[in-house]
Amino acid sequence: MNPLPRHDHYIAGEWTAPADGGYFASVNPATAEPWYEAARGTAADVDRAVGAARAAFEDPRWRDLSQTRRGRLLRNLGDLIGAHAERLARTESLDNGKLLREMQAQLAGLPEYFHYYAGLADKIQGEVIPGASRELLNYTLREPVGVVGAITPWNSPLLLTTTKLAPALAAGNTVVVKPSEHTSASLLALAPLFEEAGFPPGVVNVVTSYGPEAGAPLTEHPGMSKVTFTGSSATGRRIARTCADRLIGCTLELGGKSPNIIFPDADLGSAAMGVIAGIFAAAGQTCVAGSRVLVHQEVYDEVLERVTARAATIRVGDPLEETTELGPLAIAEQLEKVESYVELGRAEGGKVVCGGGRPQTGLDGYFYSPTVFTGTDNGMRICQEEIFGPVATVMPFGSEEEALAIANDSAYGLAAGVWTRDVNRVHRMAARLEAGTVWANTYRSMSPMSPRAGFKTSGMGTEHGTEVIREYTRLKSVWVNTSEEPAGDPFILRS
Ligand code: NAI
Ligand code: MG
Repeated sequence: MNPLPRHDHYIAGEWTAPADGGYFASVNPATAEPWYEAARGTAADVDRAVGAARAAFEDPRWRDLSQTRRGRLLRNLGDLIGAHAERLARTESLDNGKLLREMQAQLAGLPEYFHYYAGLADKIQGEVIPGASRELLNYTLREPVGVVGAITPWNSPLLLTTTKLAPALAAGNTVVVKPSEHTSASLLALAPLFEEAGFPPGVVNVVTSYGPEAGAPLTEHPGMSKVTFTGSSATGRRIARTCADRLIGCTLELGGKSPNIIFPDADLGSAAMGVIAGIFAAAGQTCVAGSRVLVHQEVYDEVLERVTARAATIRVGDPLEETTELGPLAIAEQLEKVESYVELGRAEGGKVVCGGGRPQTGLDGYFYSPTVFTGTDNGMRICQEEIFGPVATVMPFGSEEEALAIANDSAYGLAAGVWTRDVNRVHRMAARLEAGTVWANTYRSMSPMSPRAGFKTSGMGTEHGTEVIREYTRLKSVWVNTSEEPAGDPFILRS
């Protein structure tokens, strides 16, 4: 058997072998076969990468670059990603099992993120503050924070790296990225494009490995100024604790248990499709998955019928096939997790009305059927805990107040969907839902321009939009005495 292709870390613009020589395999979840090996980074590799990023941060080639020029480099990078989108999409699909079609669409949209922050790079500015006296000029400088550590998950590897990388670079930082151990391939394929776009070596570095082995040392490294993370709430909490000890900032985008709420006046066909898209797209492995479906009792039966009818015909199979609608779960642990939650849901008294097991696909991968539960109560664990798989619970409600109460009865607060033709109700619900994103008569819309924040245990800080620049800058206040008067003796008080 041929040995698997091997990839090293990308540090200071060079492929760099791991300090202790270790590698680990990444699996293609459609076949359950390993398909490449990546460097198994440790604290020593992290130290090199942070050192390279720190040196690049202080290097005049980056530090003294005009903001317009910084934007130009981001624009170049976006263009290059556009040119390589097909190859990168295929790589991601092989690594995490998401539909090739979906990854193609995601990658085709990725240049827009870089272009958006390219345009923002030379609009990052301080202010002149009214002086405390006529002679005092006071202004602010919005400075980069330094070296940013970005730790990313496996569900949308390059998109979720871009939402951190693009604003961090626009603001003038340098970055060390630690991608998920399950999906290192696409970022490694992208890495050479940083220099091709014109970024000096060391501005972006990639260290691959498992979380505790390289992610934790990255958050602990004294040369790091800021951490930005997307992933589970458990790991997010751990990272926040480390950052608290070090008194550095962190931005966290964590899990969700988002409600998708259907009122009787909604276009029920569209609402049912919104439910399907909300929970079965990407096999439910999205932070914003609409996993709790709340349906008004008057239309409960009809909506359930529409949802289960479509869910039962979803074509599960090879994510590279044009006709496939649902791919495998990305990792073996995720399949086990989904299976155990479905068992738990049954044990808690829920009824599986669709799916509830593994489909026949003829492939050895981590496939699971689209699954719908009824008879669940929002207090049950399957309604409170993030499953991150194709499992929906469909629950009835009687009034708007009740829908709000159920929707907000969650530790999470990432997103929510509302389906109704009543425009006033849309705004009432939007105001009272405890969620960072509210969608009305649509689900999963996103754009680089629109801020995303997780409320409650779904996160801290913002991503996307212009506000995110605050996450990657620090504000300095500068006072200048413009008076020609000689300074008086400070110990003689003047009246
Ligand atoms: P995770 O949150 O543990 O991993 C995300 C990233 O954090 C990976 O790069 C990982 O290597 C790194 N990491 C892990 N432990 C770390 C540590 N101690 N210090 C620093 N970095 C660390 O998520 P995992 O294990 O891949 O998936 C577990 C669950 O997390 C999933 O079942 C799902 O429920 C949830 N999840 C949520 C995501 C979201 O977008 N909200 C994305 C991925 C997973
Ligand atoms: Mg993989």
